[in-house]
Amino acid sequence: MGKLDGRVVLISGAARGQGEQEARLFAAEGARVVIADVLDEQGEALAKELGEDAARFVHLDVSREDEWQAAVAAAKDTFGRIDGLVNNAGILRFNELVTTPLEEFQQVVQVNQVGAFLGIKIVAPEIAAAGGGTIVNTASYTGLTGMAFVGAYAATKHAVLGLTKVAAVELAAKGIRVNAVCPGAVDTAMTNPAALDPTADPEESRAAVAELYRKLVPLGRIGQPEEVAALALFLTSDDSSYITGQPFVIDGGWLAGVSLF
Ligand SMILES: NC(=O)c1ccc[n+]([C@@H]2O[C@H](COP(=O)([O-])OP(=O)(O)OC[C@H]3O[C@@H](n4cnc5c(N)ncnc54)[C@H](O)[C@@H]3O)[C@@H](O)[C@H]2O)c1
Repeated sequence: MGKLDGRVVLISGAARGQGEQEARLFAAEGARVVIADVLDEQGEALAKELGEDAARFVHLDVSREDEWQAAVAAAKDTFGRIDGLVNNAGILRFNELVTTPLEEFQQVVQVNQVGAFLGIKIVAPEIAAAGGGTIVNTASYTGLTGMAFVGAYAATKHAVLGLTKVAAVELAAKGIRVNAVCPGAVDTAMTNPAALDPTADPEESRAAVAELYRKLVPLGRIGQPEEVAALALFLTSDDSSYITGQPFVIDGGWLAGVSLF
């Protein structure tokens, strides 16, 4: 018996990183997963690896309403229904607020904030039609506090928590629970862009990132995407049946206070 037997869950941004680990864990727990991303090659390869009974890939740019509609249609065509959503897709840009180009701010809003809004708007009626289910939004540590150079990103992640609370209140009567994960630093391409740069040494930069979080985070290390996937599983499964509208911080203690060790 898996914790998600019989469930059909769409995960945005699932071609790599945390979304990929969520897709792998949810499939292992019995769900059929819809891997939705702009990275077609990686998404297709992951769906193939998980097998056609467990997964399918759909191309989805979360900032486009027509692509959400097409993704939902494709998911229903394959698996008959959708009763879970993980709004995981996101982008990060570093800039001081006073030097952030308007286009950059708007790009981050389009993906992180509008993307999560559209996911709720388009998928929640499908979940309601399936008899209820869950939505997990991916916010951030920076959805709860500030951090220099990530103004656009932090603004969108605060907004995701606002969306989470309103959606939880509006959708409770339809049997849909809505919660958010707020990861601190997680070991993915987002924290280590050199992993995607063929001219860089990914291990060298990974070691530098790891050393930074060894000092900053009370638990003394960066988080792993599998650990965030385990939290998303909890919030998607019946284990969290009396929980809705809440942000769940998963950060090794970073938000609790500064580590001096
Ligand atoms: N890595 C961290 O330290 C960290 C911390 C807090 C929150 N987060 C959040 O976790 C989520 C997952 O990030 P990650 O760490 O796995 O990074 P990642 O960059 O490896 O994964 C992000 C995924 O989103 C996809 N994506 C980007 N724009 C998209 C779009 N317009 N439409 C569809 N998909 C799109 C990417 O292709 C990628 O597969 C993001 O929302 C991110 O903001 C990450």
